[in-house]
Amino acid sequence: MRKLIKGIFLNPKADYSVEVWNNYYLLINNGKIEKIEKNIEINEIQFDVYYDFEDKIIIPGLIDLHTHIPQFRAVGIGKGELLEWLNDYIFPLEAKFSEKNFAVNSTELFFKHLISKGTTTAVMYSSPHKQACEIAFEIADESLVRSYIGLPLMDRNTPETLLQNTEQVIKDIFSIANKWHKKNKCEFVLTPRFALSCTEELLQKVGEIAVSEGFFVQTHLAENKKEVYEVNLQFSEIENYTSVYDKYNLLTSRTILAHCIYLNDEEIEKIRAKNCIIAHCPTSNKFLRSGIMKAKEYINYGLKVGLGTDVAGGYSLSMLNEGMEACEISKLLSVQNNESNDVLEAETVFCLSTIKAAEYLKISEDVGNFEIGKKFDAAVFELSEMYRTNELKDTELVRTLIYNIDNRTAKAVFIDGNLVYQQ
Ligand code: GUN
Ligand code: FE
Repeated sequence: MRKLIKGIFLNPKADYSVEVWNNYYLLINNGKIEKIEKNIEINEIQFDVYYDFEDKIIIPGLIDLHTHIPQFRAVGIGKGELLEWLNDYIFPLEAKFSEKNFAVNSTELFFKHLISKGTTTAVMYSSPHKQACEIAFEIADESLVRSYIGLPLMDRNTPETLLQNTEQVIKDIFSIANKWHKKNKCEFVLTPRFALSCTEELLQKVGEIAVSEGFFVQTHLAENKKEVYEVNLQFSEIENYTSVYDKYNLLTSRTILAHCIYLNDEEIEKIRAKNCIIAHCPTSNKFLRSGIMKAKEYINYGLKVGLGTDVAGGYSLSMLNEGMEACEISKLLSVQNNESNDVLEAETVFCLSTIKAAEYLKISEDVGNFEIGKKFDAAVFELSEMYRTNELKDTELVRTLIYNIDNRTAKAVFIDGNLVYQQ
């Protein structure tokens, strides 16, 4: 099957620049990009379907490095800071995922909305139930989204309804991973929820499995001041929060650490040296009054920073929105600290959500930008009618896309060349 696609393409590059291809044609053959051309005679090309997106913007499918499937229904509802918010709103909601129909309906809703925002790859938490995690994989697989999903591990400091038995949950990990890891586009992710929810026995086991099986690991790190204080009490013999994960061999280039707000210089250096991935979640950091992560400083220092929506700490599944929030918070931080105007720019956050995240997930041979031979994961957006797209300069196109706040929903989304969403 050959598809011909026309429009204005934004192509992110590894050096944080963005190429603009105005009125280009991409020929997709069996899901992969076969040709990228500006001037073609349509009648000289063989294709089965033609999509003319006119002056709409076509970007590589967006990559969300951190979000929570079961929390979608709590967007905007909960309040308070992290630990109270988890106890008062999130744990009760996640507990409902023990019921099969609720889990199926909520998970379907989540994926429908995720795709509608142009996200084609996501790293996610399920609820802590084996059944709900398997439901998440089934629905993810059907959706075609490149899905990295983990069962959050919680064998202490957890309400009875969600508390896991250490031995049983290790068995569950293998049972889920045997069925789903590397099946189609799914990957199983080891997910100690955060240090406070895990016994040392569990962390030890998870570290061993991470080394032996090579799974990605995801967790939360240094998100909230009270959380950090509690971790220091709970692991009083370990020097800092980052070292808790390091002690159990959980810090590698396959580790995604969400938040990373309250880190000292030693911890930052450790994360750099271990080549870990940081999921910056600025919307959630605002909503839960967690704090401000120094994203630009981390990037300048050589850390691998990507973006995560962290729903329902974050209140939107849109990665364009997350990028805009990252830019805005970076400005507030620089003015508060009386620093220069070295802030996150629209081009930077666009690259973080596409080509950079693909590099971190080691899938940049397949996706992340538009190149011949890569798979066609893409999202099509329409700018507000106040812009006449063809009159905008290249840099203005990227900015208007990121700040296109009144219209965050895609017009069309493709995964592996398949049209998976159309409005
Ligand atoms: N830390 C532990 N669990 C969670 C969660 O569900 N969301 C956020 N934002 N932080 C957490
Ligand atoms: Fe989170």
